[in-house]
Amino acid sequence: MRIIVAPTSSYAVHMVASRILEKLLSSPNSVLGLATGKTMIPVYSELVKLVNLSKSTDLKGCHFFMLDEYMDLPFNHSETFRNYIQSHLMEPIGLNESQFNFPPVHLSDGPLQYEETLKARGGIDLQLLGLGRNGHIGFNEPGSQKNSRTRVIKLSDDTIEANKDQFKEIIPTHAFSMGIETILDCRELLMLVTGKSKAQTVKYLISHYDDETCPATYLKGHPHFTLVLDPEAASRINLNM
Ligand code: GLP
Repeated sequence: MRIIVAPTSSYAVHMVASRILEKLLSSPNSVLGLATGKTMIPVYSELVKLVNLSKSTDLKGCHFFMLDEYMDLPFNHSETFRNYIQSHLMEPIGLNESQFNFPPVHLSDGPLQYEETLKARGGIDLQLLGLGRNGHIGFNEPGSQKNSRTRVIKLSDDTIEANKDQFKEIIPTHAFSMGIETILDCRELLMLVTGKSKAQTVKYLISHYDDETCPATYLKGHPHFTLVLDPEAASRINLNM
């Protein structure tokens, strides 16, 4: 695992957005895995800015897979991750909807179909990841196994609590998520963590391996896993380790 502590939060965001753009430009057929959450909002806005600045950018051949999605929400609900990515990335850059793969949450064999689509596309070149306060990645909650594949997961009370301010009537209790092993299959993993509220989780992540109480620890064995932190998220770790 490579750990980068950026001097400011906006620099951390810039580093992540630049790496995504570099990956997208490295091959006209790049496949990217996309995360959502509050952490990623500035990343997508920086990426949109960088794409607009770089005149030679042609992203028509690139493909995107969403990491996860809430179950139980109507298709047109404003808080679906589909809607999130449409408004933060797809529309501002002018990407085509056909370049995006969304979890088929309404199909009973949706998880299997999503794995098959991923395989047919040749896998993910770069997967962007956030970190849940309880150590989850995607929606792989504590207790998830290292060999888990894409599936529907019951959300923990902590996750429901962390996200409930986004919902009014329906508060989702389940989510569709790529599994841990599905994420480990990606060729490169790029995780961004910002803010003081995640500092304790980052500390735990750095000092534990393959610990099911903090699923992010499973990623540490990946040969190309980069963790980008802002100073607040890194505030509880010893930088001289
Ligand atoms: C959410 C999502 C994750 C996200 C994480 C952190 O519940 N399932 O994909 O990375 O939790 O979210 P935030 O950035 O809002 O703290």
